[in-house]
Amino acid sequence: MHLGLYAIQVRRANELLSEIAERDLPGEGQIAGSLFRANQLDLAYCLSSAKNHDLYFSTLGGTAAEPQGTVRTWIDRDFGSLDRFLRDLRATALASDSWAWTCLDQSSGRLFNLLGDPRGGVPFWGATPLLAIDVEDHAFLLDFGLDRAAYLDSLLGQIDWESVASMLPLL
Ligand SMILES: [Fe+2]
Repeated sequence: MHLGLYAIQVRRANELLSEIAERDLPGEGQIAGSLFRANQLDLAYCLSSAKNHDLYFSTLGGTAAEPQGTVRTWIDRDFGSLDRFLRDLRATALASDSWAWTCLDQSSGRLFNLLGDPRGGVPFWGATPLLAIDVEDHAFLLDFGLDRAAYLDSLLGQIDWESVASMLPLL
């Protein structure tokens, strides 16, 4: 079901890209309330959703119990311990209605756990997401009912930390 929803977003993004490219641009006095504006809003949401799901799916299913190497070093540096990081990430995800991320701010080099509201919003420019957690209802209803905390406990035990490390930008 989740992959099906993702596929719809990707297909819609491609449709919107074609539609925007093929139509005439609205005149300046016609932009508010225009189809162009609606398509641009929809495109931003669909692309954001697709990118977030790319990251979400790619960092699930790991076998390593804990992060190692640079990711672990930076987690310890910025959160004090792995336990504190995971509890912070879990609380951030519980506070969100849409997405939670672990991001690297490329200008300061610091890791942040951030939530995404409204749906699919990106925290700030220059923040590279290393890990994405989908906390919309469709991500867990079938398996966990309304128990989002149980979903997060299960998910946080199945992170592919090697994949997370591969998201680090080349320095
Ligand atoms: Fe999703």
